[in-house]
Amino acid sequence: MLFELVIIRIKFVVSLSLSKTVSTGSNQQITINDLIMSKTIKAFAPASIGNVSCGFDVLGLAVDNPGDVVEASFNNSNRVVVNNILGDKGLLPREADKNTAGVAVLEFLKHIHSSQGIDLVLHKNLPLGSGLGSSAASAVAAVVAVNKLMNEPLQRKDLLPFVMEAERIACGAAHADNAAPSLLGGLILVRQNDPLDVISIPTPKELVCVLVHPHIEIKTRDARQVLKPSISLKDGITQWANTAALVAGMMKSDYELIGRSLTDVVAEPMRAPLIPNFYQVKSAALEAGALGCGISGSGPTLFALCQGISTARKVSVAMEKEFAAIHLASDVFISSVNTLGAKIIGS
Ligand code: HSE
Repeated sequence: MLFELVIIRIKFVVSLSLSKTVSTGSNQQITINDLIMSKTIKAFAPASIGNVSCGFDVLGLAVDNPGDVVEASFNNSNRVVVNNILGDKGLLPREADKNTAGVAVLEFLKHIHSSQGIDLVLHKNLPLGSGLGSSAASAVAAVVAVNKLMNEPLQRKDLLPFVMEAERIACGAAHADNAAPSLLGGLILVRQNDPLDVISIPTPKELVCVLVHPHIEIKTRDARQVLKPSISLKDGITQWANTAALVAGMMKSDYELIGRSLTDVVAEPMRAPLIPNFYQVKSAALEAGALGCGISGSGPTLFALCQGISTARKVSVAMEKEFAAIHLASDVFISSVNTLGAKIIGS
């Protein structure tokens, strides 16, 4: 208890000499510097469904699980160091300027004119190249943890540009449709990237997300290459009508309208061939009662939106079965909408 009070007091004594000693109530004496340097903040950032079918690059929806966790602490250098990454099978870059968590923190520190050294440990729970917003979640968790570690010089929404920069490094495009929902929660409409203008859209209470991740990898960078550089006016009209209708359906809690609007004539036809059995899995989801089904972000994960948990369970079984029919194993996640976004889970 006394130790915790001492930690709280650190917020008010940062201007004091770092060698000042503090009694812990036992015989032990520790310096404020020891306390500051030993402080670790742990943050969780959720996966997200980029695009939500019709909203290519402009809509994203956060789920409760899975998600990535990042631990951040100070170090004595002026460098950002990715100390360890757990769960990536050694595939992610360890250099801070090449890793999305590291890039977001470097951008954050540059913005606040700090040369503080930071150690990061990344618990990579989201599969890479899955379409679950994996690169954004790592960057979000890192920057939320470091902002907290430094006593929150910036507000939550102001962290978004640093995550977008990390997305640019990871997949060549600074899109915010994963970054914004993972950071802020809920369904987010990205009206404009520069300057950033993101809008939170309310979602109906009974909305449940099913995510089925087949065990193949698709890199976002590659999935963007298969897209046509331009679309017809006819497809444009269909797409923006559905995007507007999806937003209206969410705001009116009109589940039928949500289902009718989950149609994508821009990215899905180009990307479907990258996902084995895509149309069979999608049909199975709809037959089992899903409101709609599509590719989560750039795939290969498929998402289905459902009304209620019991339908969601049936839908997940039907989808998994279609992948299993072609001997493709998959992971299933059933989750409500995460309305709060990233959170601090320990210090
Ligand atoms: N909007 C991006 C895309 C999301 O579809 O390429 C990537 O997860």
